[in-house]
Amino acid sequence: MTDLGFVHRFMPGKKPAAPVLLLLHGTGGDENDLIPLGHELYPDASILSLRGKVLENGMPRFFRRLAEGVFDLEDLKLRTEELAQFLDAARQQYGLRENKLIAVGYSNGANIAASLLLRDPRHLSAAVLFRAMVPFVPDAPPDLTGIAIFLSAGRQDSIVPSANTRQLSSMFETAGAAVTMHWHPGGHELGRDDLDAAKLWLEKLPLS
Ligand code: MLT
Repeated sequence: MTDLGFVHRFMPGKKPAAPVLLLLHGTGGDENDLIPLGHELYPDASILSLRGKVLENGMPRFFRRLAEGVFDLEDLKLRTEELAQFLDAARQQYGLRENKLIAVGYSNGANIAASLLLRDPRHLSAAVLFRAMVPFVPDAPPDLTGIAIFLSAGRQDSIVPSANTRQLSSMFETAGAAVTMHWHPGGHELGRDDLDAAKLWLEKLPLS
């Protein structure tokens, strides 16, 4: 589907009140990439999976970057606002007004989800962020009270330094979020442990 401003897929869960996983892929991915992961992490959830609108050498992303790990902050702001508008429209279009939305992002997708949490958190009840980094530093912390965040980082990640992940984690905690950290022994790629830990975390999440 290309309407509502983003190419996306919506797959309703078995129960209308089920939480919705908002899937956000990494650089070079698309709206199909994370669907198997979403089903594995939360089999009963509905799925709303987006394709990033920015192309970097033909690879979809959710916002522009100037270099590896150096973000175009103006574009990030604009794209984050576009994502927020999309979520309002998608809730209406798919009858999701009361459903909890849980972002599940990998790498660039995790970074735009982090940006949404720092800029306009009302959209999300929880977030699973694999290999996220600090997207920008807000002037004042947002209010993330009641929002649960699972951060999964690679100890050997050459793209996201551990100190950056720790900074993101403390930014979220300062803002009132309940943060759970998982450290994968390898690098930027996901391992079995990332998925197992995220699934367990989601199973324990109080969502009613
Ligand atoms: C980003 O650009 O969001 C991060 O550097 C991760 C990546 O997409 O490679």
